[in-house]
Amino acid sequence: MSNSSDGLDRRSFLGLAATIGVATAGYGMAESTRSWPEQVSFSFAVIADPHCAEGPRQGMELLGSAVDRLLRCFQAMEELPPDKKPDFVLIAGDIHPEALAPHLDEIHIPIHAVAGNHEGSKKSRGLLRSLFPDDFGVGDNVHDYYSFEHKGVKFIGLCDAGAGGDHVGQFSSELIKPAGQCDWFEEELGMSGKRKVVFAHIPPALDGGDHNMHMGRNDSRWFVKTVKSTPPEMLFFGHLHHATEAYSIGEAQAFNLRSCCWNFQNTPVGFMLVQVTQEGMETQEIITGKVHVQ
Ligand SMILES: [Fe+2]
Repeated sequence: MSNSSDGLDRRSFLGLAATIGVATAGYGMAESTRSWPEQVSFSFAVIADPHCAEGPRQGMELLGSAVDRLLRCFQAMEELPPDKKPDFVLIAGDIHPEALAPHLDEIHIPIHAVAGNHEGSKKSRGLLRSLFPDDFGVGDNVHDYYSFEHKGVKFIGLCDAGAGGDHVGQFSSELIKPAGQCDWFEEELGMSGKRKVVFAHIPPALDGGDHNMHMGRNDSRWFVKTVKSTPPEMLFFGHLHHATEAYSIGEAQAFNLRSCCWNFQNTPVGFMLVQVTQEGMETQEIITGKVHVQ
């Protein structure tokens, strides 16, 4: 950050965070009606649309560049009490990996990312994969969708951003490696006895219609049907750049998250914190910046 000509230096950044502080907004506990093996409590965070290559934005000049705004999220996490500090962060796409790469050594909380439409070229997709090889694999064994387990909970990262930066989501594309994501997801969700969380960039169209900024018609219909028949506990999406929207897909709790970089209608930026307990998953938004309109 201190290397950035259009950003804030470290001292200014820390001072700003101390001055402005953070605000929170809770969505309450999504209690599970299902029974699980004994759960060790932990927290994780979800960030959407950091758009790291973008510079300062009108009305948000004091918050610095997009990278500054992303790093501010991680600083807010570091300042949380130990029982709330996230074990890791999910980033739900539109990352601009070329601008994140020089700052990764400033981040000390593990990241699990998925691609957005801004990672829609071979070059940007390849760079994103190379930044997180433990999740995406390497060489001939790359996979844009993956799952991992943490303290008994399965996290499923999907790739619904195809080639060319299309704003409509799709699960099959020459840029999504390997082919077969839908079959894989059905198998992952179908595994019984595990708590599950799903994250992806582009949200489904709940009415199964043909809409821009959502998964395509057929992908939406298949996705909603699959989630209803074998529900995870929670799903997180980005892409829309508006105030966070909470909704249900069958038994599952879903969120279309605000961006941590910028949002339409001067909506504040921030991220989601999730506390996992035996009883369920409790979500809380942490607001890290507001727009000041003259
Ligand atoms: Fe997007």
